Amino acid sequence: MTEMLLPDAAGIARAAALLRAGELVAFGTETVYGLGADATNPRAVAGVYEAKGRPRFNPLICHYRDAEAAFADVVSNDVARVLAGALWPGPLTLVLPRRAGSRVALLTGAGLDTLAVRVPAPEVTRRLLGAAGCPIAAPSANRSGSVSPTTAQHVLDGLAGRIAAVLDSGPCAVGVESTVLDLAGDHPALLRPGGVTVDAIEALIGPLERLRADDGERRSPGLLRSHYAPSVPVRLNAMSVSPKEALLAFGVPIAGAGTVYNLSATGDLIEAAARLFAGLRVLDHDAMRCRLGGIAVMSVPEVGLGLAINDRLRRAAFPRA
Ligand code: TXA
Ligand code: MG
Repeated sequence: MTEMLLPDAAGIARAAALLRAGELVAFGTETVYGLGADATNPRAVAGVYEAKGRPRFNPLICHYRDAEAAFADVVSNDVARVLAGALWPGPLTLVLPRRAGSRVALLTGAGLDTLAVRVPAPEVTRRLLGAAGCPIAAPSANRSGSVSPTTAQHVLDGLAGRIAAVLDSGPCAVGVESTVLDLAGDHPALLRPGGVTVDAIEALIGPLERLRADDGERRSPGLLRSHYAPSVPVRLNAMSVSPKEALLAFGVPIAGAGTVYNLSATGDLIEAAARLFAGLRVLDHDAMRCRLGGIAVMSVPEVGLGLAINDRLRRAAFPRA
């Protein structure tokens, strides 16, 4: 049963308490409704991917109460500060390098070393972010492949029964998603047109990079180049393992590996998704330290979140030059 919450003090407090407890809460912003989870809680973030039914881990935008909170999780620069000063709060998302000490879960950024941050405008949204006391990771609150919701009823149409609550702050004023800018590269680049116009941005910082097709591909999330990829070979669907290999296990581990990281001893796909990016990093590190030849991966069922987990594992296993 999904709770419908009013945008008053009690509703905001309830939504914030649910988020802190690791539950999923949809909430209005000026652009579209977001499907929110505590961005620092990998299990909650795994629940977002599951509720949306996404076949792969796209990186999620982290929402903050103000620019100061946002820039505590990413490394800002002059361009970011100018844009934030002029256009935040508002429908603008900035992609910047993740700060080393950030508590934001690796799964939130789909394992990338950048993070998308934004400060939404509506008073209710900002009060929610303040009350939650954590960054909120939120994609649009629709099932994968459907259109983005701009009312609480749209959210329920797609996600009723799959999420804990919807904070109903009325129809979204802008109605299209935020503009996404990549400020982590050499030159600011437009990744997604949206609520803030390119003209408004270029008036502040000069011309944006126009992505050529191959550049767009290079920067588009989900590709190997931009994703964290282990430095040792990755072997999928392992039925046996040698002492010269590290094992990424799922369920009861096969015996004989040099070192083991279990995604989920009970075979729980949500737990496995939550631990996937950390597991790849830990085993890569162990493999280097102990001079192991590679990472063997046990098979993960191709259902539910298993689709996204396997998509990511196939990318990690893809041979690199
Ligand atoms: O208006 C919005 O942005 C809404 C509201 C809820 O804030 N959110 C939204 O989220 O549209 P979503 O997940 O549907 O779209 C996020 C976009 C995707 O195109 C994603 O690829 C991009 O932001 N993105 C997120 N993190 C990124 C990163 N680290 N690098 C590049 N692109 C990133
Ligand atoms: Mg979307």
